Amino acid sequence: MNLTVFGIGYVGLVQAAVLAEVGHDVVCVDIDADKVKRLNQGIIPIYEPGLEGLVRENHAAGRIRFTMDAAAAVKHGRILMSAVGTPPGDDGSADLQYVLAVAEIIGREMDGPKIVVSKSTVPVGTCDRIASRIAEILKERAREDLAFDVVSNPEFLKEGSAVADCMKPDRIIVGTSSQEAEKVIRELYAPFNRNHERMIVMDVRSAEFTKYAANCMLATKISFMNEMSSLAERLDADVEEVRRGIGSDPRIGYDFIYPGLGYGGSCFPKDVRALIKTAEGVSFDARMLKAVEERNNEQKSVLFDKVNRYFKGDLEGKTFALWGLAFKPNTDDMREAPSRVLMEALWQAGAAVQAFDPEAMQECQNIYGQRDDLLLCGTKEAALRGADALLIATEWKVFRAPSFDMMREALKTPVVFDGRNLYDPKIMARYGLEYHSIGRKA
Ligand code: UGA
Repeated sequence: MNLTVFGIGYVGLVQAAVLAEVGHDVVCVDIDADKVKRLNQGIIPIYEPGLEGLVRENHAAGRIRFTMDAAAAVKHGRILMSAVGTPPGDDGSADLQYVLAVAEIIGREMDGPKIVVSKSTVPVGTCDRIASRIAEILKERAREDLAFDVVSNPEFLKEGSAVADCMKPDRIIVGTSSQEAEKVIRELYAPFNRNHERMIVMDVRSAEFTKYAANCMLATKISFMNEMSSLAERLDADVEEVRRGIGSDPRIGYDFIYPGLGYGGSCFPKDVRALIKTAEGVSFDARMLKAVEERNNEQKSVLFDKVNRYFKGDLEGKTFALWGLAFKPNTDDMREAPSRVLMEALWQAGAAVQAFDPEAMQECQNIYGQRDDLLLCGTKEAALRGADALLIATEWKVFRAPSFDMMREALKTPVVFDGRNLYDPKIMARYGLEYHSIGRKA
């Protein structure tokens, strides 16, 4: 099936590559000339496990192409999938300029029946706006004979496991009331919907809302658990025991109840804020979502507060080893990463940071550039050397079983502040390391 994907970002590229892999003929279009050129040379703009091979193989096989020629791209696809960004505007609401620009091009260039699929996370009502814009342009062109549908089909992939999530989706949400559109979308996703029915078809607005509700629910679980962790510390309980205790209830489940340094990334923070804004737009005060966000912002400072207390507010001239910069493992993404809040607070207090991350070193360099109080180290061991304490901000696998003897010897003070609860406090004590983690006794 011929498919066009607008926007070669995270969602667009992964989805396009996976659809090409099962045999569809995919054209990807983007306004970024450099990105298009590099992709045609097999250079992938993001780090995502499994993506590079997938893109290269399908590109070599001619099943996926990258172009800036939007007019030709509109003509190519029976399905036109929009996966362009919806960055937050100044007030936190989603900025729809790119989404509407795609609608504009489609309206101008389409010359046959099309199914427009909205993959981006867009506020409820956006698909209706896309449809109105296309209809307006077709009217101007006196081509109202051209049929089209706008379908909401939000993406649920996670950074770090995006390819696997796309290959084996746990649900495919399709928002449409058109039988024809449903039929075509079923054919598109048939390879992913073979063994059991994963497609959930609903009206357009509910599909758009489902995406926000899902992310906000997950963000709520995290903020709730972070709140429990702060309480556990004050009640002399261990939040890790509590997590296991409540997760065993299938109604609660074990997923997304890990306390930590707060959620980051490009999705949860943005989507929680956008839904708060959407609620305001319909004169509804989303108090629970506001609390989720507030709790998350506070959580990002928890590790710094512990460090600051430990050193009695005197961080000037101290050096801290930092393990983990990415907002979560298996990505180089540092958007809204807790590590940033931590580093910036340390710098503000006059301390320096020696950091290591398996993937996000370049990203960190891009964000902060060259500065005297930031040393990017080649290994996790190098980051420890001579540091006053070790701080952990991301739960990368390579941090899970370090040599604790080496850790103790390399640090100036044998103290570890772990924002991800990676270690057993008893083991740390055995190795002579003072261990502070989240929601557990020191
Ligand atoms: C999230 C959702 O999980 C995806 O389903 C969704 O498609 C995506 O947003 C999106 O809207 O595009 P992602 O942002 O890649 O995916 O990352 P997650 O794995 O969900 O992690 C988000 C944050 O929550 C991370 O900072 C992570 O450290 C934190 N987290 C997660 C916790 O603090 N505790 C947990 O128990 C789980």
